[in-house]
Amino acid sequence: MTDHKTPPLQIGDNIAWMFATPMIGYQWPDSADLNRELESLVLQREADDNTIRNSNAGGWQSTDDLLSWGEPCTDELKHRFQTLLMAVLRETSADKSAPIRTRFRLDCWANVNREGDYNVVHSHPNALWSSVYYVSSGEPNSDIPYAGKLEILDPREAATYIQTQKSAQNERCIVGNEPGFMLMFPSWVKHMVHPHRGTKARISIAFNALAVG
Ligand SMILES: [Fe+2]
Repeated sequence: MTDHKTPPLQIGDNIAWMFATPMIGYQWPDSADLNRELESLVLQREADDNTIRNSNAGGWQSTDDLLSWGEPCTDELKHRFQTLLMAVLRETSADKSAPIRTRFRLDCWANVNREGDYNVVHSHPNALWSSVYYVSSGEPNSDIPYAGKLEILDPREAATYIQTQKSAQNERCIVGNEPGFMLMFPSWVKHMVHPHRGTKARISIAFNALAVG
């Protein structure tokens, strides 16, 4: 149904994208030494600890007090999480110049996924912002799509009903897991981790910021 007499409407300025969901990705520079120290520490803790299972199917999750382990590498990671959190709070505030008065409790834990391990669909109840930092991608098999990748699920449940190609209404959000990469997102957003396929351990560190006042 094309009317050749009427030029196409230019409606770019007429579209309002409502209810956008912020996804903040930040690649920290100079992370090789930090990641080496974190990998060594996490694997040692895994060897010493009992397995805790929350969202993981297989694999290992540490206790959620990683930020108080008192090691130089965990202190540096705490600094990174806090720095990004403050930037996110500032940037997503209606008044970017207003001081941030919300107080938070910070929970943080390590995840180790090996061949076949994955994380089921979940959100992070009671937290406000969540984050993940990648220590090692575990040398995933590049022949297997999404191996070990985090997928953010579209919170607009009905949106995937529309299946026209390349529609902004029908996108998948697959997140890379390069070492040093940190993703921060609203804690209510559902997500999952596809099964890891790789010879080395995929190591990530998760973080919750819970508002306490
Ligand atoms: Fe998660």
